[in-house]
Amino acid sequence: MHKPLNIGMIGYGFMGRAHSNAYKQVSQFFNLAYRPVLKAACARDAGKIKAFADNWGYESTETDWRKLVERKDIDAIDICVPNNLHCEIALAAAANGKMILCEKPLAMNGPEGQKMVDAVEKAKVPNMVWYNYRRVPAVTLAKKLIDEGRLGKIFHYRAKFLQDWTISADLPQGGQGLWRLDIAAAGAGVSGDLLAHCIDTALWLNGDMASINAMTETFVKERKHNLTGKVEKVGIDDACIFMGRFKNGSLANFESTRYARGHKALYTFEINGEKASIAWDLHDLHRLQYFDHRDDSKVRGWRSIHVTDNGGDHPYMDKWWVPGLQIGYEHSFTHQVADFLEGLATGNPAMPDFRDALRTQYVLDAILGSAQDSKWAEVKQV
Ligand SMILES: NC(=O)c1ccc[n+]([C@@H]2O[C@H](COP(=O)([O-])OP(=O)(O)OC[C@H]3O[C@@H](n4cnc5c(N)ncnc54)[C@H](O)[C@@H]3O)[C@@H](O)[C@H]2O)c1
Repeated sequence: MHKPLNIGMIGYGFMGRAHSNAYKQVSQFFNLAYRPVLKAACARDAGKIKAFADNWGYESTETDWRKLVERKDIDAIDICVPNNLHCEIALAAAANGKMILCEKPLAMNGPEGQKMVDAVEKAKVPNMVWYNYRRVPAVTLAKKLIDEGRLGKIFHYRAKFLQDWTISADLPQGGQGLWRLDIAAAGAGVSGDLLAHCIDTALWLNGDMASINAMTETFVKERKHNLTGKVEKVGIDDACIFMGRFKNGSLANFESTRYARGHKALYTFEINGEKASIAWDLHDLHRLQYFDHRDDSKVRGWRSIHVTDNGGDHPYMDKWWVPGLQIGYEHSFTHQVADFLEGLATGNPAMPDFRDALRTQYVLDAILGSAQDSKWAEVKQV
């Protein structure tokens, strides 16, 4: 018998859809003790949330998230709304004893994230943050290779996340679909939105960062605000480049922008170790590039591993198709739900939980602090 886990989803946008898809898919492909039930979906517009609920099979709707978090028939609250709402909703959900699955970045800044950590730990409610790239099988495989010691001592960690959708100065800021350009809703620009992913992966693969030296740029200084109708100052970082030091001695080199014409979601990382290197690219997400210096020199070179083996060596792939057939972006969310449900059953929680995700938040604080002061910033440790 499967135990039902009643989900209360807040937000019906990009992530509302990605998570709903994962909840619907997970029980068909993973054999788990818990089975998500799409109990209620919530957003402010009654008509839109009803249409969303009907499409995805949610049993009911709410237009006020405060009502949703108080409902007795909800076990877990899923926060898929802009960043400025994460904390308030999470605190209320924890106070009502709900499990919480929160989208990234955890919070607007470190101190706010700390409040969220305190709330879930005080309430003893299971919690998780959707840094889904950890669950792309090729990235999970990278973690396995590093943990096996195949790279040896790591010298360099290089990552970038490039997009090009905000280049036009005519693009407004704020409101539905454009809240990412509004500092009050987003808390930060590409650093909190895109680099947050790169940082979470990096901390997971290579451990904590110690210090940061960053620069940010806002290329378009003013944009019309959709909520006020007025031209207002743009407060977000349009681009961010930083270098840093990991606590293990390796050097960090990160870049993110929404002004890299031609790039839509180019998240890449490369890690260079004493014995081997690995590289990954979101546009080719089922492949892991691997170079091993110990190979016979006659055949030594970069290997392109197609991460589709279902015999157990390639993470998650035994749950899907036959070797050679790949999966995609949406499956990273399905894997994350599966791990969360597995964690509930075993008592070994899926990561990142709020405390783990707070580490990324403190790196983000150091980035923005360093860029503002034009000097090195120490990263607060969790
Ligand atoms: N893990 C990832 O890869 C990933 C990708 C995209 C977004 N995100 C994160 O997910 C969150 C949501 O982003 P998105 O792209 O889905 O945004 P979106 O703009 O597509 O959707 C936001 C949703 O929030 C709803 N909303 C706004 N204010 C609300 C309120 N007061 N009450 C109820 N609902 C409200 C909107 O109606 C909308 O449905 C953000 O924190 C973002 O950083 C994560």
